[in-house]
Parts: sequence; C-alpha cells; structure tokens
Amino acid sequence: MTSIYLDYAATTPMDPRVREAMAPYWETVFGNPMSLHSHGQKALEGVEAARDSVARLIGADSPEIVFTGCGTESDNAAIKGVAFARGQGGHIITTAVEHHAVLHACRFLEKQGFDLSVVSADRFGRVNPDDIKDAITSKTILISVMHANNEVGTIEPIEAIGALARDRGISFHTDAVQTAGHLPIHVDTMNIDLLALSAHKFCGPKGVGALYIRKGTPFEPLLHGGAQEGGRRSATHNVPGIVGLGKAAEIAMKEMEDENRRIDELRRRLLNRLMRDIPDTCLNGHPEERLPNNINLSFAQVEGEALLMHLDHAGISASSGSACSSGSEDPSHVLLAMGLSPEKARGSLRLSLGRFTTREEIDRAAEAVIEAVGRLRELSPAGKS
Ligand SMILES: Cc1ncc(COP(=O)(O)O)c(C=O)c1O
Repeated sequence: MTSIYLDYAATTPMDPRVREAMAPYWETVFGNPMSLHSHGQKALEGVEAARDSVARLIGADSPEIVFTGCGTESDNAAIKGVAFARGQGGHIITTAVEHHAVLHACRFLEKQGFDLSVVSADRFGRVNPDDIKDAITSKTILISVMHANNEVGTIEPIEAIGALARDRGISFHTDAVQTAGHLPIHVDTMNIDLLALSAHKFCGPKGVGALYIRKGTPFEPLLHGGAQEGGRRSATHNVPGIVGLGKAAEIAMKEMEDENRRIDELRRRLLNRLMRDIPDTCLNGHPEERLPNNINLSFAQVEGEALLMHLDHAGISASSGSACSSGSEDPSHVLLAMGLSPEKARGSLRLSLGRFTTREEIDRAAEAVIEAVGRLRELSPAGKS
C-alpha cells in the first residue's frame, strides 16, 4: 500500500521541474555570484532571474527582494530589522495566532526594551482590524500580522490592517509563508512593507526563503559581513536554492488559479465526507476565509497524537498542529487563542493537501480517518460507558 502525504502545510515535496532547474547550479554553474569572472557572472544571472520571478509573484520590484535561509529567518529579519533601525522605546503590535517565528521574535524584542501588544483573535482565528487600531499608540513602529494561519488556515484581513499602518506611517509586516505561491499577493494593493516567504512551502527546496522590504522601509540587517543582497543579508548565496525558489515561484504563478480550484474541490470532498460520517466533529478555523488546502478538525473523545499514530500506521501522514511544535505536550497556542479548551485543542487533526494530492488518495484518507476515530472512541473511557 502506498503512503499518502497530507501534511503540505509542514513542507511540500519538490516539484521535478524545480529539481531540473537547480541541477546545473550544483555542478557546472558553481561560481560565487559576487565574483567578477564568468563563472561568477553565470551564477549571478541565475540569482537575478530568480529575484525577478519572486518579485513578480508578489507584485514587488526586484531590488526589494532579499534572499534568506528560510521563512523563520525572513520573519526575524523583518521584525528585528525594523525594531533595531527605529531604536528602543518603540512599540510593536502582533497577534496571538502568529507562528512562533514571529511571536518569539517579538517576545525577544520585548526583553530588549521594546513595548509589545499581542492582539487576540476570534473563535475562527480571525483578527479584527479594529482591535489592531485600538492597540496603536504614538510609539508604534511595527505591526506584524500573518496572511494565513499555518494551523487552521484562516486568512487574515491584512489589506485593512496594512491600510491602518500606512495611514499612520507604521511599518507593516506579514508572514506569508503559508500563502506565497498559493494565493494571489500584491504588496502595493495589500499595503505591505515587509513580507516573509519560504520555498519549501510551495514545492521548492528547503533552506531558502525571501524577504520583501519595500524601498525606504527602516531596516537594520541581522547578518553583517560581505554586504551581499545590497548589504541587507551578508552571506555567500545559496545559488541552487535561490534558483529553485525562482522556478517554484514561476510555476506557482502560472498554475495557481487552476491548482486552487482543483485542491479546493478535493478539500471539500474530504471535509464533507468526514463531517457526514464522524459525529461530534468540528471544523477549526474560518468556514470560508481559509486556505483552499487546509482542513483542521477536532473530534470529541479523541486525542490528536493517538489519532496521528493510527493514521501513520495506515500510511497517512498528517499533523496535529504546527510541525514545529509537534513532539511538545502543549496544546496549540493558536487553538487556545481561538478559545478551544486544552482537551479539544489536543484532539485536533490538520490535513493539508497539495500539488500531488489525488482524488483516490482523498477517498482512502477519508476511510482511514473514519476508521481511526471510530476505534479510538471505542477505546476511550467515554466510549466504553
Ligand atoms: C506561518 C509560518 N511562518 C513561518 C514558518 C517558518 O518557515 P521555515 O520553515 O521556512 O523556517 C512556517 C513554517 O511552518 C509557517 O507555517
């Protein structure tokens, strides 16, 4: 029996077209893009073509794209970069449902003397722009709100939040790690000043990301050294990775619309089946304003980790929360922030679909989840009574 991968929100398999585009850069085109000789210049051409593709994906100008090592680095560089450029005493606003790459970077800055407001979300994980507005003070230097949540898939009203920031001259950062390459993004119309993305979330390679920094945004780099990337991120370029990111962006842009339609249909098929055949199941996250590939469910009397083990045994790879916090006993901070009890939060299952998911896999996965939940309920004390 072949296994079924339904954890695309954690990471994605690399598209063979991306691998093919990267291949020459491991071997023949190995130069350092900062070198003036022809080996270096050929590598530089690959890097700059990738920069153009990433810029096109989000409606930016190429010089505003900085290549990084991952989404976590992009988030950290954006948040600390603005904070350090503006200096201590500044106030930062973020939300309770952010990825830890944002939340922990903000908490770090709080320890360094910055003021921090963490705005809550509603029961769907959606942030109200009015709450952001109420949190703004004369000292606010940065607002950071994610584009879509990695656990429950809820899409945030970032355009409205960005407009609040823009009107007041406050820098606006969005973590678009789950949306870049999946949803249309335009940094101008969405009022974004800084945006983090990561190649491995849209069928590109691991270990490479990008940070968009709008021209004129105050920014102090995290890494100092050889002044690559216009002095905004020193380090010899990961040329194969960057070329792979560029190719992944190019493919995503071309195929996004059709792909989203296909995935949305598969997601609805799976969700309808599970909701129909498993009683006492609730969908976490926004019913409509959500990523087309995300399902997050809580099953009464079922413990998430046990369910994952049953599914793994049946050849299904899924997740009980964010990949980064799995292995931790703590219930998801996102589900808790949405008002779920710790028990319910521990009973959650995230199924995330992607480019290589088929209808046949969805039907097999549905059977496996129905069976696993049924078994676990039989074993649970409440099920026996
Ligand atoms: C919303 C979000 N932000 C940031 C990250 C971190 O990205 P990376 O794995 O590239 O460091 C992730 C990864 O799960 C994510 O989902």
